[in-house]
Amino acid sequence: MKTLSELSALREQIKQWKLNGLTVAFVPTMGNLHQGHFSLIEKAKSVADKVVASIFVNPMQFGINEDLDNYPRTLEQDQQGLEALDTDLLFTPTPDIIYPKGLDVQTFVEVPGVSQGHCAESRPDHFRGVSTVVCKFFNLVQPDIACFGEKDFQQLQVIRTMVEDLSMPIKIIAVSTKREESGLAKSSRNGYLTPDQKDLAKVLYACLQETQKAITAGVQDYDKLMVSAKKSLSDAGLKPDYFNICDKSTLQLANPQCKSFVILAAAFLGSVRLIDNIQVDIQ
Ligand code: PAJ
Repeated sequence: MKTLSELSALREQIKQWKLNGLTVAFVPTMGNLHQGHFSLIEKAKSVADKVVASIFVNPMQFGINEDLDNYPRTLEQDQQGLEALDTDLLFTPTPDIIYPKGLDVQTFVEVPGVSQGHCAESRPDHFRGVSTVVCKFFNLVQPDIACFGEKDFQQLQVIRTMVEDLSMPIKIIAVSTKREESGLAKSSRNGYLTPDQKDLAKVLYACLQETQKAITAGVQDYDKLMVSAKKSLSDAGLKPDYFNICDKSTLQLANPQCKSFVILAAAFLGSVRLIDNIQVDIQ
């Protein structure tokens, strides 16, 4: 596996592959890779000739009081994991390569609608940072396919919408969430949790499953379900940020006509913010 940091070297390699008629699948990440990320690489391997991964802790998507400086950086370990999966190229630019003029750039990519609400309530500029950097990476890597995790469902919808609205010739593949045996979604931020907190954290997925079950059973008082899930989270010792039963495609709060749902949730455990979601389809 080649590891490249410079734009020109990356562009040269991509050009060579394209000249040879090879297809490219891309998996953008912020590193500290775990089974969730690796499942995206495996998916990418199965759908294209060449797989490019990136590791870039994108400063533009972090708020001022967030964990940018402390975000776990484990490059050597990540390289080994990617190498073991036969990844073809790892792109590891530094912030000055991606943002040579700093973060005060003139051009952003904004995806209003799906970027609003849920995570954006407590992270107002987060998705603008995500869509801008992913657009930049798409321009550099020029992938035929890009893989994203359902774990970050709102992010996935932001990317899908951006690709559709801007006619980007890229197929977006969604990959299901990889979990611990307890149900806790794997996340780089789980490393911040103490063993006791990690045990408690499973309550978030349990509440999502409980609510999924109620909707499948025909309960339609979604407000009541949301209030009761937040109470369960608080009772267990988590601080709910949001717990929203939504229409899967628009991410607006669901109404009784809705048949296809995603329940989006975030909760704090100490200073760690956990996010998760579950999908529900009814007849
Ligand atoms: P990061 O949090 O590193 O996640 C990279 C990709 O891995 C995302 O598509 C995310 O949804 C997926 N992922 C994370 N945990 C997962 C799990 N448990 N199961 C399946 N997939 C999982 O998301 C980002 O980085 C950034 O916002 C990025 C898109 C790279 C832009 O900076």
